[in-house]
Amino acid sequence: MTTRTVYVDGHFVPEDEAKVSIFDRGFLFADAVYEVTSVVGGKLIDFAGHMKRLRRSIGELEIPYEVDEEKLLEIHRELVRRNDLDEGVIYLQVSRGAADRDFAFPERSVSPTVVLFTQKKAIVASQSAERGLSVVSVPDLRWGRRDIKTVQLLYPSMAKMEAKARGADDAWLVADGFVTEGTSNNAYIVTKDGKIVTRDLSHAILHGITRKAVLSQATGNGLSIEERPFTLEEAYDAAEAFTTSASGFVTPVVRIDDRPIGDGKVGPVARRLREIYIEQSRATAI
Ligand code: PDD
Repeated sequence: MTTRTVYVDGHFVPEDEAKVSIFDRGFLFADAVYEVTSVVGGKLIDFAGHMKRLRRSIGELEIPYEVDEEKLLEIHRELVRRNDLDEGVIYLQVSRGAADRDFAFPERSVSPTVVLFTQKKAIVASQSAERGLSVVSVPDLRWGRRDIKTVQLLYPSMAKMEAKARGADDAWLVADGFVTEGTSNNAYIVTKDGKIVTRDLSHAILHGITRKAVLSQATGNGLSIEERPFTLEEAYDAAEAFTTSASGFVTPVVRIDDRPIGDGKVGPVARRLREIYIEQSRATAI
């Protein structure tokens, strides 16, 4: 891999020169929030949506950081330019900053640590999307504020490893018999009578930026949507299943816990929603 240029606290530096304190609360307490914005054709998808959620996450955790959308847009664009990024993602993290280890938050005068880097990735022409994912269900053992996009990702990471160990691509997390979401994506089923079902917004799931766009595009294209919890049994019995995220757009799911969903092939609703999302994203990227 060639050396990337990354951003740390006001500076663009080669990735092997980027440094953050060992006392950073992101490192010691997972006291940090993040966003992942996709880039297609060198342009950012739904940047405003990601900034809105960043502002909300920061507000919920009372991190003393002012989200300056114009400035952050300029940094994102500069990283795209410097890394010649055509397709992939930009990761942004804001932590509460470095202070001597203490469970109590430090004084508000401590400066947050702001880090951004790029990752090249084929998002539009994705093999996973063409063949469809297989997922396994695992208990949702995360904390109760999954609506805040924190860097506490150990459990999702463990769930992903369990999925891989069981020969699957990803895991769907289940609480009280109901699917919450995937390890790093929102989860959907399409019922046999053609309704799209996805969990309603609450503290139980991340309020996906892709979710919002896809649901609005689905409605605009005459599809009916039910925002409510669905059980694992409903998912096994569904006509189709899929996930959404900034890094996966709309990705079909063809197997859950080794049971084929519908005919076990990528379904027409997921395929269509993916096409619409890609078309709309290209048209509105900045
Ligand atoms: N993950 N749910 C969870 C738990 C997520 O981590 C993500 C995103 C989503 C989808 O949100 P959005 O559509 O805004 O990307 C849902 C990112 C991509 C990540 O952690 O890499």
